[in-house]
Amino acid sequence: MNFLEKKICEEGIVLAPTVLKVDSFINHQIDPLFMQQIGCEIAKRYKAERITKILTIESSGIAPAVFAGLELDVPVVFARKKKSLTLTDGLITSKVYSFTKQEENEISIANKFLSAGERVLIIDDFLAHGEAALGLAELVNKAGALISGFGIVIEKSFQDGRQKLVDKGYRVESIARISEMNANGITFLKSEVT
Ligand code: G4P
Ligand code: NA
Ligand code: NA
Repeated sequence: MNFLEKKICEEGIVLAPTVLKVDSFINHQIDPLFMQQIGCEIAKRYKAERITKILTIESSGIAPAVFAGLELDVPVVFARKKKSLTLTDGLITSKVYSFTKQEENEISIANKFLSAGERVLIIDDFLAHGEAALGLAELVNKAGALISGFGIVIEKSFQDGRQKLVDKGYRVESIARISEMNANGITFLKSEVT
């Protein structure tokens, strides 16, 4: 098991066969050193890609994205889920369908923070059905920038998010890939990281 898989086994709680609670180190409390290790691992995989910007979405994507940005020495932009009071002009938006809430939400970034020709790494904490990931990809495409790939902390490989991204030709790097989970435990797909 790699460092993240170990942590998931120690601290993760399987709430349902499709829902993993990891709020002791990702979604509520953050373990900074551990999060830095995650960010560095994502950065390492994209080191050769001459990334110029990282794009994520509030709130839980921000922490791994910032540590990857620190390592790659590039700025990090997070898409907003709610309209900001000060962020009104020059917005790029896309629609994201939430399976959990069964509603469509608009996400946005200011176009001044993402320029045509930039090489973008998209980071998020979870990859499930891939709706958020596709929404972020649409923002990058609308800006005329290039998607170098996705860096995911936890991929639920039994859901179809990865396949949707791969079908569009995108590279997907996930630090932990869960093939199955239930009350008896969590099973991971093989990983190269220790
Ligand atoms: P998706 O399946 O298409 O990814 O979207 P969904 O609407 O189901 O996801 C809603 C939220 O739940 C997202 O965070 C997503 O990252 C998160 N999520 C999806 N599966 C899991 C899971 O198994 N465990 C946990 N802990 N989270 C999961 P969000 O609402 O945008 O919140 P946040 O980023 O502010 O934390
Ligand atoms: Na997220
Ligand atoms: Na989340």
